[in-house]
Amino acid sequence: MRLVLLGAPGSGKGTQATRLREHLQVPHISTGELLRAAVAAGTPLGLQAKAIMSAGNLVSDEIVLGMLEERFQRSDTVHGFILDGYPRNLSQANALDVLLDRIGQSMDLAIQLEVDQELLVARLAGRAQAEGRADDSPEAVRNRLRVYEEQTAPVVDHYRTQGKLAHLDGVGSLDDVFTRILEAISPYADVG
Ligand code: AP5
Repeated sequence: MRLVLLGAPGSGKGTQATRLREHLQVPHISTGELLRAAVAAGTPLGLQAKAIMSAGNLVSDEIVLGMLEERFQRSDTVHGFILDGYPRNLSQANALDVLLDRIGQSMDLAIQLEVDQELLVARLAGRAQAEGRADDSPEAVRNRLRVYEEQTAPVVDHYRTQGKLAHLDGVGSLDDVFTRILEAISPYADVG
């Protein structure tokens, strides 16, 4: 099945996508992970993206779409995928529709994980201590949350209008949230 996970920074997209990958046996495609790998490898793209990401801003639509198109050329996406971190604005949402249409696919469902801001900040502060991710500093987190509200939140309506949105409570244990997601995707379980 073809799934996109939406939600603010810290809402649990990456965590739940990892579990879903095992469950659905389809690849987890995270644009954040692809970009962090490029930064770590010191590629020209990574060098361009590094400062933008550390500040919590969005990397250009062109760069991210190019990266995504390259990833979709791999054969493991034929039977589905879990997309995490893309689309991040309406222009990316439209570009994704066009990209999928071109390869004869379409999104089955967008899952939005809702978590209140105080808890998001606490989760990311916890990860900052545990992992030291460059964009988990208090200033970058504030900016990421602002960017989410201004640019990414409207993407939810894009999928709502298409009748493809499942809005879920992202608060609770990892198992609680995973169970809610499994319930939401159960009607699509047989989608190849
Ligand atoms: P990206 O990597 O996509 O980061 P993000 O959206 O800010 O998401 P996070 O990874 O912070 O949160 P998450 O929702 O995945 O939560 P997680 O499961 O990790 O993007 C990073 C940057 O790359 C962007 O800012 C931008 O610069 C760039 N970028 C990426 N995509 C782009 C695009 N399409 N266009 C332009 N730029 C792009 O969980 C967070 C923490 O909470 C973890 O510690 C986890 O253990 C904990 N946690 C999760 N669930 C629970 C729970 N239920 N209870 C308690 N703790 C929990």
